[in-house]
Amino acid sequence: MTASAPAAAREDRPHVAWTRKDLLGLRELTREELLALLDTAKGFAEISTRSIRKVPTLRGRVVVNLFFEPSTRTRLSFSLAAQRLSADVLDFGKEGSSTSKGETLVDTARNIEAMGVDLFVVRHAAPGAAAVLARHLQASVINAGDGSHEHPTQALLDCYTIRERLGRLEGLHVAIVGDIGHSRVARSNIWALQKLGAKVTVVGPPTLVPAAFTQLGVSVCHDLDAVLPEVDVLNMLRIQRERGGGGLNFPSVEEYSRLFGLTQRRLERARKDVVIMHPGPLNRGVEIAPEVADGPNSVILQQVSAGLAVRMAALFLCSLARSKSEAAEEGA
Ligand code: CP
Repeated sequence: MTASAPAAAREDRPHVAWTRKDLLGLRELTREELLALLDTAKGFAEISTRSIRKVPTLRGRVVVNLFFEPSTRTRLSFSLAAQRLSADVLDFGKEGSSTSKGETLVDTARNIEAMGVDLFVVRHAAPGAAAVLARHLQASVINAGDGSHEHPTQALLDCYTIRERLGRLEGLHVAIVGDIGHSRVARSNIWALQKLGAKVTVVGPPTLVPAAFTQLGVSVCHDLDAVLPEVDVLNMLRIQRERGGGGLNFPSVEEYSRLFGLTQRRLERARKDVVIMHPGPLNRGVEIAPEVADGPNSVILQQVSAGLAVRMAALFLCSLARSKSEAAEEGA
């Protein structure tokens, strides 16, 4: 690999050795590994400010986006991140592929790997799908969302955005509001934020916020108005009607919005500098009012921008670890 890491990636944390060829979730990562990803992303963010927004870091490498679920942000930002690193990028969509003829996920991926692909970016409705592929492939696998399990790069870009806005994560109180039970974004955020020193409260109706979440170390609250004055960050999630059989799990969208939607009026109960986040896609007028989504406390578009740097870091670190491991095996 023509590995040329940006300055921050080389110098900030020289003691951290990233050794994972795959990024499957944040549950298994140490605090140091999380910081290595965030600091490497900080270095890569500078590339997007240059007149020529491209570096040769992954020249000659091939990245495939293997997406079995819809995506706008994750898919495009992984594509752009790979292109900024000079990798070749292939796009696989379920529609029009031979999976409709009965080919398994593993067979599909192994055939794509046989074309010389080095990195797989995988989104799938089944929890654990990326981990299964990582076991069957020599190539690196990055989980771009597996069912309700994890969405590691989303939580990393959320942490990155908070750190940029507030200068730290340690000691902050973050509320994640909405359909927590079905949310891979909530789970990955819970793992990352707590390891990085933040306190997390999950908020929503009991039918969407199972009490069992306390076993992950977070507080559970069913009253958004009660928690609003106490938090530094509000991460608003949408209702995931594509999971859990498509039911609402509460009486009506109107009632949900009245009790848990972030309106301008409700925002007046929060701290003046509270940071408003949303992973997208937004359901304007349901979990968040348009004037709040577009208002001065919102960092929703900064989250999307951060995703590019975070995904460049993930592609770079996983590719480098795989190259080092292969070189070591050849030398042994
Ligand atoms: N936040 C997120 O994962 O968005 P997409 O589904 O558009 O990728």
